Amino acid sequence: MRTYLVTGGAGFIGSNFIRFMLEKYKFDITIINLDSLTYAGNLQNLKEIEHLGNYTFIKGDICDKKIVQAVFDNHEIDRVVHFAAESHVDRSIKDPEAFVKTNVLGTAVLLAAANKAWCKPGGGYTENKKFLHVSTDEVYGSLGAEGYFYESTPYSPHSPYSASKAASDMLVKSYIDTYKFPANITNCSNNYGPYQFPEKLIPLVIHNALNGKKIPVYGDGLNVRDWLYVEDHAKAIDMVLENGRLFESYNIGGHNEKTNIEIVKTIVDILCKMLDKEDKRKKHISRDLITYVEDRKGHDRRYAIASDKIKAEVGWHPDTCFDEGIRKTVRWYLDHEEWVEGITSGDYQKYCEEMYVLR
Ligand code: NAD
Ligand code: TYD
Repeated sequence: MRTYLVTGGAGFIGSNFIRFMLEKYKFDITIINLDSLTYAGNLQNLKEIEHLGNYTFIKGDICDKKIVQAVFDNHEIDRVVHFAAESHVDRSIKDPEAFVKTNVLGTAVLLAAANKAWCKPGGGYTENKKFLHVSTDEVYGSLGAEGYFYESTPYSPHSPYSASKAASDMLVKSYIDTYKFPANITNCSNNYGPYQFPEKLIPLVIHNALNGKKIPVYGDGLNVRDWLYVEDHAKAIDMVLENGRLFESYNIGGHNEKTNIEIVKTIVDILCKMLDKEDKRKKHISRDLITYVEDRKGHDRRYAIASDKIKAEVGWHPDTCFDEGIRKTVRWYLDHEEWVEGITSGDYQKYCEEMYVLR
């Protein structure tokens, strides 16, 4: 019975990953979720599984050496799946230090604890242990109209978020090179799907449209992102944990490039079709809500991932095409308005006001 330590499991991708794993492996695995519950962490995301005997939640900060050490002292951890991070580029432009703290220092604390727990007195590591560091394609910087990010593409991060993720990747690489520490790094493109905090483009568009609010599109709206349905990311991580060669990095992407304006228009059109005729909101949802605003500072133009390596070596491929994934996502947000209300009733409004002042 394998024990997984999942950090940041109360966030968007982490909670989808935990649900995916418990659905797939049932009681054959144990999951410990270490999360400090920042604004982005929400235990509601895991409501359906919180009662399970093989799932434990620990509220704690990955920067806190004592807590992290205690987790390794009290449990025989076989896999670390490290999601915990500050994850939003706009917030990183406003407060870079928080990103350095969690993303860089937090990763350093986790690496040190796993290294200590897994190394054998005579050298080497206990068999069958693995640390999977979940990272982003944003570490590679920005592409022009042509080309793709490969695992060999030099890192060239531009935002404080991507710089802090690049630094954390480098720390993992340094453990691999120095100690032969059993790790993988995955660099994934933009995710979308259920439980994403509505500060990110797709849920923000759904939320604003439903509430008749302007939909802010940064700059000319022609920046390109490569969108992947979150369950396909969860599946990729599981497959890299199982079949990925130790010490390797794997790019994960949907080969699904879209401009931001295309995404926004698609969502508005889907919402118009999905809402019942009688639904009062139907009247105020239209493309007229789309408002071009000042561009994000240092806005990366295009991200596009080459997933050839993970496909060839690990056998992964995405299951959900964008047309299906975006419909499922919009449907989920329509069916979970209480969830959205729960997280937008706190300081979310204040955050939005600050963000719009900032740009
Ligand atoms: P998220 O912001 O939704 O969730 C982050 C989670 O980490 C939250 O539950 C939060 O409470 C927790 N957390 C933050 N700081 C912590 C700390 N110091 N100690 C413990 N827990 C802490 O993020 P997400 O979108 O789910 O992203 C998860 C990971 O995947 C991140 O490492 C991110 O860089 C990476 N990633 C995200 C995307 C994407 O499109 N969202 C794409 C590629 C990679
Ligand atoms: P986001 O979801 O923040 O992800 P990332 O910056 O990590 O790619 O943004 C996706 C794209 O959408 C990015 O090019 C910025 C743009 N964007 C807007 O145009 N308006 C918005 O309100 C937001 C949040 C993002």
